[in-house]
Amino acid sequence: MRNSHSSEGARPQPGTKLRLAVLASGRGSNFEAICQAIDEGRLDARVVVLISDKPDALALERARKRGIKALYIDPGLYTSRDEYEKALVKACQEAEADLVVLAGYMRLLGKTFLSEYSLRTVNIHPALLPAFPGLHAQKQALEYGVRFSGCTVHFVDEGVDTGPIILQAVVPVYFDDTVETLEVRILKEEHRIYPQALQLIAEGRVVVEGRRVRILGEEGEGGKLKP
Ligand code: GRF
Repeated sequence: MRNSHSSEGARPQPGTKLRLAVLASGRGSNFEAICQAIDEGRLDARVVVLISDKPDALALERARKRGIKALYIDPGLYTSRDEYEKALVKACQEAEADLVVLAGYMRLLGKTFLSEYSLRTVNIHPALLPAFPGLHAQKQALEYGVRFSGCTVHFVDEGVDTGPIILQAVVPVYFDDTVETLEVRILKEEHRIYPQALQLIAEGRVVVEGRRVRILGEEGEGGKLKP
């Protein structure tokens, strides 16, 4: 069955900015890129909370430096994944988040979380999905021998990196690449397209039609966005 939803649920109230809850487990360079895009007026949104499952995540530190509410929610304190996800939902709701942005968040989200934030949760993955889902995507790409890889911004569903794709960017893979050099090349594109995808959502231009995502107002036949 073909169903059509705009990411309407993630749209801000008229006259207010899109409120983002960012979930990150690690260094938080995507979180930083999102904040920079906001500072520079390329993204009309506000990060209302940064949540981490790791007490020592650099992302938490970055949020504190910026005066953004930084929450460490310890999964070990909860008796089940369900209870932990309920705590996540509560934190996002308390922050009145419109959209949940996974930025290097290393846990899978299940029904309990996604029933509240379905089509309101996005992720970035360092490969051209559906190729190389899951962990170590850059290593997988290198070992497979692909000539091109890249990154993908997608909605989150219960699968592993399987939700509808919003934007992708392509980078070449060179014979002499190491996982590190490829990672750097891809990360640069991640920092470019994640804020761009969030801005499209903020503008209400992202419509999910079954597995496919229509970007309203995209130019040209191939629907290419301006770089
Ligand atoms: C990025 O490569 C992202 O694609 C993946 O995890 C990494 C997070 O990096 N999901 P950072 O924490 O944003 O620097």
